[in-house]
This record gives sequence, structure tokens and C-alpha cells, in this order.
Amino acid sequence: MRGRFITLEGIDGAGKSSHLAHLCDLVRARGHEATATREPGGTAAGEGLREVVLHHPMPPIAEALAMFAARSAHIAERIEPALASGSWVVCDRFSDSTYAYQCGGRGLAPDAVRALERLVHPALQPDATFLFDLDPAIAHGRQRGQGRDPDQFEREQVDFFRRVREAYLERARVEPGRIHVIDASGELVPVRERLARAFERAFP
Ligand code: TYD
Repeated sequence: MRGRFITLEGIDGAGKSSHLAHLCDLVRARGHEATATREPGGTAAGEGLREVVLHHPMPPIAEALAMFAARSAHIAERIEPALASGSWVVCDRFSDSTYAYQCGGRGLAPDAVRALERLVHPALQPDATFLFDLDPAIAHGRQRGQGRDPDQFEREQVDFFRRVREAYLERARVEPGRIHVIDASGELVPVRERLARAFERAFP
């Protein structure tokens, strides 16, 4: 049987990456194999594109094209083969990130991203998306505590992340059946419990 495709979304510093391993545990507890991966990246070409796009400013459409180039390789080399083998795939970011960052954050027209989606993954959408929602001012404070060199997105100001967050929440309003909003404020353990409850709702 084909596996399920789960994506994690949220602004930088919302903490989604910390919950990836736990989500894989929830999947395995159901008796399924879990494959963890991330975007941009997940393949050799994708990791190369990640390096370019995170550190070299480009026009928003070029950013979107690079994200979808990486995504196309990722789907072909990793996501589809894993799903076809029956593994569930848990992916840190997917196309909702492009709507949120390149459209919400950078002002690219959503139609451009819709066109790229139709080209690159006309038949693939996440079965469930967990959106870690957090006030950008709090997320910004968390980021500063990490102590490594910020990439060009992490260097953006709080206003940019307000627009990214709003774009995410708008998508969640339009697709409430797929996108589960998780309050990512507070400590790790309560957020993890909210994620577990959302997982149960998504896959009863
Ligand atoms: P992420 O892996 O969450 O960063 P980190 O490993 O530093 O926590 O995401 C990398 C950045 O790429 C993030 O700032 C969001 C951005 N991004 C886009 O702008 N568009 C996209 O389509 C994707 C997948 C990511």
C-alpha cells in the first residue's frame, strides 16, 4: 500500500524541525516505515540548490524556480519512490513554503507558484500538513539564541515574517482539512502534545 505524505511548515524559529523526529516516531508507532527529509534539499542536486538559494539573493521568481527545481528532483528521487514502497514520508517544508515565503514574504504572484505546482507535481499534494504557528517576535528571539550564521531568510525583519505567517494562515483557512494549525508557543513538551493530537485528527 502507498505511504502517506506529511509536511511540516512554519516561519523560521517556530520549532518545526525539532518535532520532525517525534512525528516519525508517531508514524512508526502505527506500524509504518517513516522517511524523514527536508526542502530545499533532500537530494545531492537539492542540497546544492539549497546552498545557492539560502545565501545568494535573487529575484523572487528565481527563488521560486530554484525551490521547484530542487523539489522536482526531490520528488523523483526520494519522495515518490518512498511513498510507492509503502513508507510514509515526513518532509520539513514543501510547496506551502513557496507560497508563504516567495508570495507572502517577497510579493510574488500566487499564480506563478500555482503554475509551477501544476508543472512539477500536478498529482501530488500532502495528505496532511502541520503548520507550527508562532508570533514572529517570539520566533525571532528563539533564532537569535541558536548562535550560527543566519541565512538570507533568517536575516529578514519581523515584518517579513508577519507576511509569511499571514500567508500560511490564509492557506490554512482555505484548506482546513489538510492544514492543521499547531500553536507553537510555549515549551517543547506541550507543543509536542498538540502535534500528537493533530496527528490523531489527521489520521484517525
Ligand atoms: P529551513 O530548512 O526551515 O531552515 P533551517 O534549516 O535554517 O531551519 O528552511 C530554509 C529556508 O528556506 C527557510 O528560511 C524558508 C526558505 N524556503 C523558501 O523561502 N521557499 C521554499 O519553497 C522553501 C522550501 C524554503
